[in-house]
Amino acid sequence: MEKKNIDWSSLSFAYMPTDYRFVAHYKDGAWDEGKLVKDACCTMSESAGVLQYAQTCFEGLKAYTTKDGDIVTFRPDLNAKRLQDSADRLLMPQVPTEMFLRALDEVVKANAAWVPPYGTGATLYIRPFLFGCGPVIGVAPAPEYEFRMFVTPVGPYFKGGIKPLRLLLSQYDRAAPHGTGHIKAGLNYAMSLYPGYVAKHQGYAENMYLDAATRTHVEETGGANFLFVTKDNKIVTPKSDTILPSITRRSLVYVAEHYLNMEVEERPNMEVEERPVNYTELKDFQECGLCGTAAVISPVGEVDTPDGRISFASGMEEMGPVCAKLREVLTGIQMGEIEAPEGWIRKIC
Ligand code: PLP
Ligand code: COI
Repeated sequence: MEKKNIDWSSLSFAYMPTDYRFVAHYKDGAWDEGKLVKDACCTMSESAGVLQYAQTCFEGLKAYTTKDGDIVTFRPDLNAKRLQDSADRLLMPQVPTEMFLRALDEVVKANAAWVPPYGTGATLYIRPFLFGCGPVIGVAPAPEYEFRMFVTPVGPYFKGGIKPLRLLLSQYDRAAPHGTGHIKAGLNYAMSLYPGYVAKHQGYAENMYLDAATRTHVEETGGANFLFVTKDNKIVTPKSDTILPSITRRSLVYVAEHYLNMEVEERPNMEVEERPVNYTELKDFQECGLCGTAAVISPVGEVDTPDGRISFASGMEEMGPVCAKLREVLTGIQMGEIEAPEGWIRKIC
């Protein structure tokens, strides 16, 4: 298979249509088999649930070319499960795990020419999504649904790759208590567009959101969870019912506990605390990273707050050593350079 003629190392995080996408329909209480199609456009009722009442949720994962030339994905079973959790909360039909994984295998294999080669720094971003396509006019769940999965080759999510970022402590809220912050609902991202615009307009890479109830605890950004490193080399990550349970963050916690905790001289022993993080604690942390599929782990150097600037000890010049090590091990596992824990890697072809 011949790869597409793309300058892989110069890719940014942008949409580029590829050859095939998977589409399945849900009607009369059942999913059809689904199939690959070439058409990148969706056609639906003007009164579709997604268009009127934002009844949609999505996922994000990546395919990688390993050092041995295989194409693999990372923990897709967890994305399938999270999409089911999102569907439940939005009264949409669950996509069975079997269909999710079959769609994944088919769509990645069919677009193998678009999977960035090993060593280019680029990856294939995979976007599964589910939406109400049947008509509604009273506020109600749609009578019909579509599940789709497309892929697009991408480079780093943040401009500048792994240069430390400057964040703004947002004056807006992302998710309400007992709301939808813990699922990957499209509406959460619509909510974050205006605060994101405000932050970017002022030169910030992203917002740091606080919990809406008390505005004292650190939640997450618009598209990634936080991970902090204390001065005595512990990892702290916010625990909250209103943040998305990031698969990358959960994987990095495992890496910190099981891969870095190996009495190898230059590797620190890492302990991890998952607990509420008061924003007044920020000034005491050594390092701060944003973790997510798109962000991988991206370093944060500074956060501007109404009470002044908080600078992490790792600074604005380069990624701190713990975040760098975590990134190296995680991407090493994804690229087949480091042995993965059982069940983390799904080989596609
Ligand atoms: N938090 C939000 C709001 C996100 O959109 C994402 C991206 O998926 C994450 C966290 C990171 O989650 P994951 O590591 O599963 O990609
Ligand atoms: C991802 O990391 O997959 C996401 O969905 C985040 C999004 C903001 C691009």
